[in-house]
Amino acid sequence: MNFNKKTLRDVELAGRRALVRVDFNVPLLDGKVSDDTRIQAALPSIRYLLEHGASAVLCSHLGRPKGAPDPSFSLQPVAARLSELLGLPVAFSSDCVGPEAETAAAGLAPGQLLLLENTRFHKGEKENDPEFARQLASLAELFVNDAFGSAHRAHASTEGVAHFLPAVAGFLMEAEIRQLGRALSARVEPYIAILGGAKISDKIGVVEQFLARANRLLIGGGMANTFLAAEGLELGESLVEQAAVPQARELLDSAGDKVVLPVDAVVANAFAADAEHRVVPIHEVPARWRIMDIGPETVERFRAELRDAELIVWNGPMGVFEFPPFSTGTFELARAVAASGGFTIVGGGDSAAAVAQAGLADQIDHVSTGGGAALEFLEGRTLPGVAALQDR
Ligand code: 3PG
Repeated sequence: MNFNKKTLRDVELAGRRALVRVDFNVPLLDGKVSDDTRIQAALPSIRYLLEHGASAVLCSHLGRPKGAPDPSFSLQPVAARLSELLGLPVAFSSDCVGPEAETAAAGLAPGQLLLLENTRFHKGEKENDPEFARQLASLAELFVNDAFGSAHRAHASTEGVAHFLPAVAGFLMEAEIRQLGRALSARVEPYIAILGGAKISDKIGVVEQFLARANRLLIGGGMANTFLAAEGLELGESLVEQAAVPQARELLDSAGDKVVLPVDAVVANAFAADAEHRVVPIHEVPARWRIMDIGPETVERFRAELRDAELIVWNGPMGVFEFPPFSTGTFELARAVAASGGFTIVGGGDSAAAVAQAGLADQIDHVSTGGGAALEFLEGRTLPGVAALQDR
């Protein structure tokens, strides 16, 4: 996909101070960053800025605090990890606007960086309050948005500030849009899309996009149940979104033979990691049992579809993969995607986590850092954080 926004490469950086929106919404455990994927992904833009004589004021949200300071959502542990990764000191301001931030930003020399405290400690962030955006913008002369994972939010630090400063994309933002964009503008065949995850209602738009563009759509996870129910199957206690069954029926009718649904499943007698479980053909799910994973025959069918693919786009796990007995389908699929000779894209938090847990992330061409943002992008929606940037 063409990326028609200005990037870091298109602007003068030497001697300038940049406000950089990153997505450092990372998991913390015992006061430390437990997965630094998103921090690593922002390093190329940060390094480029510093190496080209700019100074950088980084800002991000973390978690969902209620518009006021809350120490459990502090970005301080992120400053420590970022400093380790860069091998440079990272100054920290305990407020993202106001005198402390202003003094710290004004004191930056070229090549130095500052991380601001969580933007969501202010109500103005989520409200996209212009006054709060103006205060943030006043810290710098240039705005760089590298927070693809937050680009679907029209918040002050993702959208609002772009109205007060020259606004360009960082390298992660550019790469995400270019790579995920292949899913929307692909001209290669066979193009195989894979969708999983619990709910179909969240993903109707993505199903429609995939049906319009891909040669095949393989569906697993909880959302497959709603399609199977639409075909009239009895699925015991399995998760089925009854309200979405008619829509699933319509999608199946319009899809011709594009959709491939599970032919067998791992079923359990309870929703628990230690539940009794077994493999059954899809039309033999016992009453009071529930589908927890795709079965081995389904894995083989999906693998066969993927073998000669030129492009594979995968979003959403195939089962309850956080419970080890029900993770086989998701991990086997991750292996099949990684083994493909085609271009492979994994988008969305859970499938990206599955790929990382399987140790396969470096065998996938593009693993998106976006969760909700990747989904909205794959639906073909405009992301406000991208739309606000300057056109090339
Ligand atoms: C994410 O993790 O998907 C992004 O950082 C956005 O977070 P949010 O859903 O709390 O806005």
